[in-house]
Amino acid sequence: MGAGMNSSVNQQIQSPSPRRRGPIAIAASAQSLTPVVRAPRLRGGGTLGVVLKSAVTLAFVAGLLLSPGAIAPALAQEGGPKLKAVSWPHEGPFGLFDQASLQRGFQVYKEVCASCHSLIYLSYRDLGGKGGPGFKPAEVEAIAATAQVPAGPDDKGEITDENGSLRMRPALPSDHFAKPFPNEAAARAGNGGALPPDLSVIVNARHGGPAYIYSLIAGFEEGDKRPKCLGETPGKFYNPYFANGEVPDACKDKNGKSTIEGTLIAMPPPLDPGRVDFADGTPNTTEQMAKDVTAFLDWAAEPHMEARKMIGFQVMVYLLVLAGFFYVSYRHIWKDVDH
Ligand code: HEC
Repeated sequence: MGAGMNSSVNQQIQSPSPRRRGPIAIAASAQSLTPVVRAPRLRGGGTLGVVLKSAVTLAFVAGLLLSPGAIAPALAQEGGPKLKAVSWPHEGPFGLFDQASLQRGFQVYKEVCASCHSLIYLSYRDLGGKGGPGFKPAEVEAIAATAQVPAGPDDKGEITDENGSLRMRPALPSDHFAKPFPNEAAARAGNGGALPPDLSVIVNARHGGPAYIYSLIAGFEEGDKRPKCLGETPGKFYNPYFANGEVPDACKDKNGKSTIEGTLIAMPPPLDPGRVDFADGTPNTTEQMAKDVTAFLDWAAEPHMEARKMIGFQVMVYLLVLAGFFYVSYRHIWKDVDH
């Protein structure tokens, strides 16, 4: 099952999700410009219609460019349990990330998730980039310096020290995030055989996107809430939102269909109240930590979201001005013609 998850993450990397179709949308909008240019040659009555239709098409395409994420939740929920209701300021066509929330989310990732999950596509310097958590250059350097990355070969070409361990050095802002395990075998060995997936694009790689990630990490059910039929499950934890795990036979009806929502997951509940202390005084409830770390992972999956939305907005304004301009020229060109 771990390998399956991994391949779906890889697939996601090869074929970008619907959230990243910028160039295609732009090509489509360029095509639909053609009728506008030819408009005056058409019969008079149709011209305004063509202009307006084209403007509407262009606006629609630009709208998609702005907020393709908006259609995701509707598609997301087929089959699985209803996801927890949660919202983020960066949702919607004009939403921007809450910088303080991203900084807290990074703290949760670093102090909790980073001991099992890598974020291989992120570099420390990304933490200081525009439209992200916005750490200052000195803070980025300090954050990087607390991590250790492989130092590579020394003068003699050795990559290990005299004890045979890999030579390490403190990370620089230009380094990719340090990985918790050197390879997959070590990661599985440390997690009872299960592989903690890389979290770089996990938000795009799962149906339900951020709402699923939030529900998963804040939605473990233990104690009285845990279905009795599960019995003891050492190393496995019940999560109503996780669909890819196993369910013991005692929780299946005679047709082999599961009688409970969700399955068992090999990840222990990562968050409980007070797990991380936020310097800005934000209450450290499970829900708050889950919300912040999910926002951080959403940013990690698309660090240039704010730039994309800004371009989308500019395209909309440009198209509106253009539509107005075409309308005025239409009136001007046809003003002396009986039609
Ligand atoms: C002790 C190690 C450990 C910690 C800490 C941990 N995880 Fe996991 N996580 C795992 C393992 C193992 C899996 C794979 C579970 C499986 O396949 O049954 C996993 C799976 C996941 C998944 C994928 C679920 C899916 O749909 O396939 C997400 C998302 C995730 N973890 C997020 C987080 C976040 C966010 C944190 C920090 C708040 C975190 N994890 C902390 C071990 C951990």
